[in-house]
Amino acid sequence: MDIDYREATLEDLPEITAIFRDTIRTVNRKDYSEKQIEVWSSGADDLKKWQERIKKLYFIVAEVDSQIVGFSYLKNGNYIDGMFVHKDFQRRTVGSKLLRIMESRASINGHDVIKSDVSITALPFFDSHYYEVEKKQKKSFKGMGFENYIVYREL
Ligand SMILES: CC(C)(COP(=O)(O)OP(=O)(O)OC[C@H]1O[C@@H](n2cnc3c(N)ncnc32)[C@H](O)[C@@H]1OP(=O)(O)O)[C@@H](O)C(=O)NCCC(=O)NCCS
Repeated sequence: MDIDYREATLEDLPEITAIFRDTIRTVNRKDYSEKQIEVWSSGADDLKKWQERIKKLYFIVAEVDSQIVGFSYLKNGNYIDGMFVHKDFQRRTVGSKLLRIMESRASINGHDVIKSDVSITALPFFDSHYYEVEKKQKKSFKGMGFENYIVYREL
């Protein structure tokens, strides 16, 4: 499978938000309650926020045959704020390559550590890439608590 990577543009917005919604509703569903999944996936509807992310952050999409199959974005130079792979393209290395791109960018930005806060679902993925857990926490989104983990890796 040939995967291409490029910076996102505003035209990618519908595909990006669809992946966000569908991946949460199918992949993350096994680790969170129905209510949590509903609230979290509704973040796809905040188009203004997604536009800002695409415009202001280092925002990369992965493509296979011109279809977006995953994306990730970096905040504050070394903080992975989001990483989602299309539900039909899980476990096909899309995430690993996105992670490498984010790590090189953080290095180029002059950082010697990269951080993220990741879902229960994504923890084994980050663990397999030698990320350490700094702490388990409860993050609040739209008034609802979500268990997740702050992870980091030295670059
Ligand atoms: C986490 C995520 C981005 C990983 O992307 P991916 O493209 O499926 O990952 P890769 O194919 O590159 O996986 C590489 C390795 O990570 C590990 N890994 C990935 N997902 C795993 C899982 N669910 N359980 C155990 N190990 C896993 C495996 O070692 C895997 O190698 P293998 O497939 O040869 O066994 C993807 O599963 C996803 O979109 N998850 C839901 C969204 C999410 O929770 N994002 C996290 C930020 S909030």
